[in-house]
Amino acid sequence: MSSPTESHQPVIQPRSHFNNWISAIGGVIAVGSLFSFALLAWMDLTGSHQNPYLGIFTYIVAPGFLITGLVLVFFGAWAQRRWAIKHAATMPDKWRLDFHDPLQRRNIILFVSGAVGFLLLSAFGSYQTFHYAESNLFCGQACHTAMNPEYQTYQRGAHARVGCVECHVGSGAAAFVQAKLNGTRQLYGFILDNYNRPIPAPVHNLRPAQDTCEKCHWPEKFLGNLDMTYEHFLSDRKNSAYTVRMLMRVNDGRPGSPLNGIHWHVSKDQTVEYYAADEKRQDIVWMRVTHKKDGEVKIFRNETFKGEPPAELVRKMDCIDCHNRPAHVFPTANDSVERAMALGHISLELPNVKRQAVNAMIQESITTAEEAPGKIAEYLKSKYKTAAPEALAKTIAAVQEIYATTMFPERKADWRQYPNNIGHKDWPGCFRCHDDKHSTATGEKVKASDCTSCHIILAQGKGDDLTTLTARGLEFKHPGGEYDAELRCADCHNGGIQGK
Ligand code: HEC
Ligand code: HEC
Ligand code: HEC
Ligand code: HEC
Ligand code: HEC
Ligand code: HEC
Repeated sequence: MSSPTESHQPVIQPRSHFNNWISAIGGVIAVGSLFSFALLAWMDLTGSHQNPYLGIFTYIVAPGFLITGLVLVFFGAWAQRRWAIKHAATMPDKWRLDFHDPLQRRNIILFVSGAVGFLLLSAFGSYQTFHYAESNLFCGQACHTAMNPEYQTYQRGAHARVGCVECHVGSGAAAFVQAKLNGTRQLYGFILDNYNRPIPAPVHNLRPAQDTCEKCHWPEKFLGNLDMTYEHFLSDRKNSAYTVRMLMRVNDGRPGSPLNGIHWHVSKDQTVEYYAADEKRQDIVWMRVTHKKDGEVKIFRNETFKGEPPAELVRKMDCIDCHNRPAHVFPTANDSVERAMALGHISLELPNVKRQAVNAMIQESITTAEEAPGKIAEYLKSKYKTAAPEALAKTIAAVQEIYATTMFPERKADWRQYPNNIGHKDWPGCFRCHDDKHSTATGEKVKASDCTSCHIILAQGKGDDLTTLTARGLEFKHPGGEYDAELRCADCHNGGIQGK
């Protein structure tokens, strides 16, 4: 079929310079990535869960390959042309595809089957990429080693099975575009290594709770009163236990009646808005309650704040203003140590072990996660020279474990950077507004500011004290002794060692 003489014929009709192997390979890459791009873009635009990171593959990686392919196509043509000019007189076109040549024909068949395989693989690859980009592993680990602390804490949270994107991206076209831009900006930040340590909270572009939390949670759902128990130990030689069991008045009243109690803030009957003077929303100086039924508006101001807040910084209160750490709780050193004591992981035989364990964790000389175990062990050994070896070894292991899962020195991420607003013991929390420092022009104070408005104490103390519950509620007996009523709990309690 192919006659060897043919190749001796001078080429009359000049073939396209694009007719060469390099351009052919470039073409396949270009077509493959165009194909991937189209497929990814289609999945991205039609998928029910929109994901900013998929965008990185769709709009950065796939076009990158497309450009590489096109560059190859044109490079091939250029090389071919140069070759043709240089060797026009002496040799046939070496790079050219020739279907008459059996060797070339075999190569072409191989090439075409390779190309089809490549296309199939790129379809498969795109599909896998889509799933990978959707996954929490990707958000939390691959791309975001920077976010490792959030991933670690997330895995132990109530929402460990809720995807990152469910809370961080939400749905709707605006969210989609914004997240896309954000994801790309974060990628560059990461490559250039100029992300913030710690990553700042609150996240200002988080979707409103209606679009995220309220997809699964129903604000009107009647939760009633929740019975909650807090187990503590004191820093004394005997490691005395102190437990408080409380009924949280999430909604009192009956199912179906208007939301009152703690979830009153998210009831449809009124809105609560506020203005915080600081970035972390800890210093709330102004708030406004608008009752929808009668249009009544009440404005409360802090004693020091006289003016009007900038309108764009006024925030409407939603779930996240109290539940601001639904997925990434950085527990305080104090709480984690007490919990390990309650579980028996930290030995109660060691005198004053809470203080020593917390101090071991917050040593200033620890600057990397790697050196933490060594320094923790050294510290505790120096404090308990005469302790039983098993008790000490078990305690050291438990403290090292707590450190590894809750404190991230390289990222400067731990409870000290990330206030939890749900209570009022270690951070101002509810007391940001519920104190005696905010009042209306007529001198009215924020109601629900005394110790029984939000919860009642059913039992407190230790041992037998906890066996009888009082529905009427007990007065709080502060285990740390009497203190000046002017002080807020968080003036002394900071999650580390208090009373200093
Ligand atoms: C249940 C909802 C929810 C889920 C699921 C969730 N987050 Fe968050 N995330 C939040 C909220 C709310 C904040 C803001 C915290 C604040 O304002 O104090 C936040 C904050 C962050 C921050 C800022 C730093 C910080 O700690 O405040 C990062 C980074 C982050 N999340 C990453 C992730 C990653 C990665 C995942 C998945 C592995 C994830 N998030 C899953 C709700 C969620
Ligand atoms: C995809 C569904 C989903 C989304 C979105 C979601 N949650 Fe949840 N949430 C759950 C489920 C399921 C549970 C129950 C988990 C359990 O009992 O272990 C839960 C539990 C909770 C709890 C109680 C458990 C605890 O220990 O903290 C709170 C509070 C909560 N969610 C608040 C929020 C907030 C605030 C948001 C928005 C930032 C949110 N959730 C978004 C599904 C969701
Ligand atoms: C004013 C602060 C505040 C706001 C706003 C708020 N919550 Fe709560 N919520 C609480 C408190 C306090 C509890 C009692 C549990 C606790 O102390 O951790 C609670 C309990 C819950 C629980 C039950 C937790 C459990 O352990 O069973 C869920 C679920 C919940 N809230 C979801 C929401 C959702 C969803 C929103 C927004 C629509 C919301 N909350 C708004 C303060 C608030
Ligand atoms: C941004 C300010 C703000 C924060 C933060 C806040 N509240 Fe409130 N809360 C208010 C305002 C304002 C009122 C209405 C006060 C009034 O009308 O006198 C209110 C009312 C209440 C009420 C009475 C509801 C009713 O049935 O009338 C309870 C209970 C309550 N808050 C609990 C809490 C708890 C618990 C927290 C913390 C988890 C909290 N609040 C955090 C502003 C706040
Ligand atoms: C505005 C509502 C509100 C008021 C007022 C309030 N609390 Fe609380 N308190 C809470 C909430 C919410 C929690 C639960 C925090 C959590 O879920 O971790 C809490 C938790 C506690 C705890 C358990 C904390 C722990 O870690 O052991 C004690 C003790 C307590 N409150 C005492 C008091 C005392 C004493 C007063 C009066 C000075 C008071 N509370 C006033 C809302 C309130
Ligand atoms: C003047 C400082 C001060 C104030 C204000 C204060 N505490 Fe304490 N508190 C202490 C000290 C000191 C201890 C003993 C700590 C120890 O033994 O480890 C303690 C112990 C406790 C404990 C048991 C141990 C622990 O670390 O959890 C609880 C619970 C507690 N306080 C709750 C509160 C609450 C709630 C408030 C606010 C209503 C409050 N405290 C206000 C200083 C204070």
